[in-house]
Amino acid sequence: MTQQIFTVHDLRKTYGHGQNAFEALKGVSFTIDRGESIAILGKSGSGKSTLMHVLALLDAPTSGKLSLDGVDTTSLRGKNLNAVRNKTFGFVFQQFFLTPNATVLENVTLPLKIAGVSASERRRRGMEALRQLELDDKAKNKAVNLSGGQKQRVVIARALVNNPSIIFADEPTGNLDSATGAVVEDILFDLNAQNGITLIVVTHDEELAARCDRQLRIRDGLLVDETLEVAA
Ligand SMILES: Nc1ncnc2c1ncn2[C@@H]1O[C@H](COP(=O)(O)OP(=O)(O)O)[C@@H](O)[C@H]1O
Ligand SMILES: [Mg+2]
Repeated sequence: MTQQIFTVHDLRKTYGHGQNAFEALKGVSFTIDRGESIAILGKSGSGKSTLMHVLALLDAPTSGKLSLDGVDTTSLRGKNLNAVRNKTFGFVFQQFFLTPNATVLENVTLPLKIAGVSASERRRRGMEALRQLELDDKAKNKAVNLSGGQKQRVVIARALVNNPSIIFADEPTGNLDSATGAVVEDILFDLNAQNGITLIVVTHDEELAARCDRQLRIRDGLLVDETLEVAA
């Protein structure tokens, strides 16, 4: 185990080709330590989601170096890539991505099903994650019948079911009212503080960003150096 969970050097991401090419990341470099909470902060279109998708191995960078736990991720392909992603990361997205007519428990245990975990073990770990989010009484309900806040807690339970070392949250409170959003935020920061899960939150919410240990500010595909900002 290395102290640095991510080492990122001169990372670039270009969408499209030729005349339609758009460079969404123009060379970003930073490190993230195990157990940190990090906000990726910036205006809409600045490249936040692109950076998160590259870090989470959902999208390959066009160039640059990305190491996860000391391993160069550019060498990972196919099955190995999926296995690392499934084992290491939990995802909490704004749009929930729940299957509406499946039960809460089925939604939560989907990553385990993908990983080939047996039905009884899926049930055991799914119920444990639901208990952690105080949703075990909703296990048999259809996801479609839940409130927004309950849905986001189901998403967090699903993110936890694989025991991830890193949780990625993209605008996790974007679809929630402020009271419900605050509850979801507290849950994420508790997981960071108590379980040592590295938390990487994409947000344009300055207050949420301020709760994180560190802020990576991005503008037009580049990190803004805050020390320069202050000096300017
Ligand atoms: N698949 C894509 N194809 C082309 N351009 C894209 C694609 N995804 C994002 N972009 C562009 O890249 C820039 C950064 O997008 P994104 O990372 O989603 O920003 P943010 O999350 O900060 O709003 C935007 O200008 C966006 O239009
Ligand atoms: Mg985005």
